[in-house]
Amino acid sequence: MKKDKWSSETGFILAAAGSAVGLGNIWKFPYIAGQNGGAVFIIMYFILLLLLGVPVLLSEMAIGRKTGKNPIDACRALHRKCGFIGGFGILGAFVILSYYCIIGGWIIKYLLMYMTGGVKDNSAALFERFTTGFSPVIYGIIFTLLCTLIVIKGISGGIEKISRLFMPALFVMMIVLIIKSLSLKGGGEGVKFFLLPDFTAIESAGDFLNILVSAMGQVFFSLSLGMGTLITYGAYLDRKTSLKKAAFYISLIDFVIAVLAGLMVLPAVFAYDIVPQAGSGMVFIAMPQVFAGLTGGNLFGIIFFLLVLFAAVTSAISLFEVLISFLIERFKLKRLASSVICSAAVTAVSVPVALSFGSLSNIRIMGMDLFEFMNFLSDKLLMPLGALGISVLCGYLWGTEEVSEEAGLKKSWDKKLYRSIIRYAAPVMIAVIFITSFIGL
Ligand code: TRP
Repeated sequence: MKKDKWSSETGFILAAAGSAVGLGNIWKFPYIAGQNGGAVFIIMYFILLLLLGVPVLLSEMAIGRKTGKNPIDACRALHRKCGFIGGFGILGAFVILSYYCIIGGWIIKYLLMYMTGGVKDNSAALFERFTTGFSPVIYGIIFTLLCTLIVIKGISGGIEKISRLFMPALFVMMIVLIIKSLSLKGGGEGVKFFLLPDFTAIESAGDFLNILVSAMGQVFFSLSLGMGTLITYGAYLDRKTSLKKAAFYISLIDFVIAVLAGLMVLPAVFAYDIVPQAGSGMVFIAMPQVFAGLTGGNLFGIIFFLLVLFAAVTSAISLFEVLISFLIERFKLKRLASSVICSAAVTAVSVPVALSFGSLSNIRIMGMDLFEFMNFLSDKLLMPLGALGISVLCGYLWGTEEVSEEAGLKKSWDKKLYRSIIRYAAPVMIAVIFITSFIGL
């Protein structure tokens, strides 16, 4: 069977950027940046994105394109003992999907609420009532089905087409909301919180290390690294595309959207005296308060949740594709059959995760509820292990000369930089994230 391919370089870049741009950019980045010294964090994030994110991104795409296979077989093709590295990715994609689809379902629920009259009651109480009930199961399934319908259509006709449509739309909707947000009275405080360097956030070496570790974790999550996503997408790439150029654009888009998200969310949050707090719930609690106070708030609510939905869908389909490509290649299944199996499997796991806020909240694993446990598994365990595996595979086993050739690194300076990062800097930094996230600082 001939493998479906991206129809163009731009199509691939938009699809990969679609995978990268997700809840991580829109909610997590503005908040973490604000908490970690604003501009100081943003500069550090940018440097790490270039120094750490781009080389790992390049490595994953190179592994995918060189082998043309799913993550497990791709890693195994490069070194016979390394299939398990791709295995972390496949398991990780499955684990992320089990909760990403639930949050996707919440987004659909809110979008529908804004389309049918808006949120008028106390938004915190409403969120609590909704998430602890049974309906998130239904909305989660709707989100899963939506993604399944796209991936069934394949690479060029499904994922690429949707990304070409969604990514520019997301950008335009963001600009509309930024203009609105910046014009709010008191919104300037939010911009200050986000963009002015707050050096008091760094008082000791420990503070510095803390910020560094948050920035690194955010780089990995935001670029969708370590889970085989870019190996999978890279496998559908033709030889003409320059991986170096693609990596540059994907990271740039991801960064720009993250910064724009800060300019969109934080002025609004500050204008309405809402404290910027962590947690996915805040998108659903804080923003409705903002929209409630705006003339034409419902329309802005629709635009906002549509934008978040687009971002979430293009990320979720990249994770689905990791699983689907594996089933297609390993078990010689048709795309339709493997899409259906994947979405059924994800649904089976995501139902208890959806209920872990309410009726199943008493199920605890290592003190965490199911939702927290799935987050822990993916972010703290599988993602760092996957990324570490990728850098060891490329740095020591497959060989940096080969990767450089595949990635189109021609200048000796580029090659040397890549070599020292992937062999030394990346493994050390990933190990630091891994250790600190376990023992804390
Ligand atoms: N990058 C996405 C975000 O910012 C999330 C995501 C999608 C992801 N695919 C991934 C994270 C693979 C890690 C690995 O929301």
